[in-house]
Amino acid sequence: MSFAPFTVAVPGKAILCGEHAVVYGHAALAMPVQRHLRIDFAPRPQSGPKAGPKAGKGPLIEAPCWDLQLELAQPSAQTQVLARAIEAAFAAVPAASRDLLLTIDSELPRSAGLGSSAALAVALVRGLAQLAGEAQVLEKETSRAMEIEKIFHGKPSGVDHSVIASERLLAFAQGQVQETQIPVGKTLEFVIAVIGSHGGTAQRVGNLAQRRERWPQLYQPLMRQIGALSDHALAALAQGDVHQLGALMDVNQGLLNALGVSSAELEQAIFAARAAGAYGAKLSGAGGGGALLALCQDKKTQVLRAFSDLGYQAFESSLQVQ
Ligand code: MEV
Repeated sequence: MSFAPFTVAVPGKAILCGEHAVVYGHAALAMPVQRHLRIDFAPRPQSGPKAGPKAGKGPLIEAPCWDLQLELAQPSAQTQVLARAIEAAFAAVPAASRDLLLTIDSELPRSAGLGSSAALAVALVRGLAQLAGEAQVLEKETSRAMEIEKIFHGKPSGVDHSVIASERLLAFAQGQVQETQIPVGKTLEFVIAVIGSHGGTAQRVGNLAQRRERWPQLYQPLMRQIGALSDHALAALAQGDVHQLGALMDVNQGLLNALGVSSAELEQAIFAARAAGAYGAKLSGAGGGGALLALCQDKKTQVLRAFSDLGYQAFESSLQVQ
């Protein structure tokens, strides 16, 4: 099958409030970030006398950003999970051609709390649906992406791929999007730092699940409290109250630390961001490294400098008034 090559681009995500607790049904607030993952969809050249090294049947995946090439039919030990995830995307859209050259280009570091796997899942099913001639339907896309996220993460809450697919601020609870439109009273200016790899969401969520099962009386109230913070954060957003939102982010960070998902590096960078003038700062995602989200408004330059002094890469991201 021949078609004109096209590109699907999707943003990464950051969690404003509520990670980990959202896995147990409590409320979370998540937003897209201005860093993207792109997949170029092109027909794979067919084998023949003049065929180049990329010719062949079935999907060939190239991701120079991850230093990776994957012949889907022959995954290596390192690419097995990725291959299963991509196979799941093809299984979800059986009408799409398989003789594809997929080139992945990502500005989202992997295992860093910015939704790289969810972005990959959404971009894959969106591109395959386009190839199959389907109209884009958000519900279908998110339920397909969920199956792929399960391969990466075991039991994802669904917040990551939901925010990435809808590309807007979301309130999420009980496995579902809660608000169709969230009013935001002000443009919010963030700086996001990448502290390093967290070594896998599934493992971090799994370790916390074991602690929660062993000591429910300790962990369940903390998670309930985090869910309540998300509700307060929603109200602060609507009022454009950046001071309250920042305070809520700081309290959320304290509770995430109590849950055992922070790290020495995260805490150091969070304190540095606050000292540089951030209104609030917290980890974003699974924790234990990964990404850090600082609400900065007019203090972006100072916070960027603080992260740079600590040797961390950081970028700006804003949330527009709707
Ligand atoms: C990961 O970005 C967010 C977690 O809450 C896991 C999930 O929601 O599936 C840690």
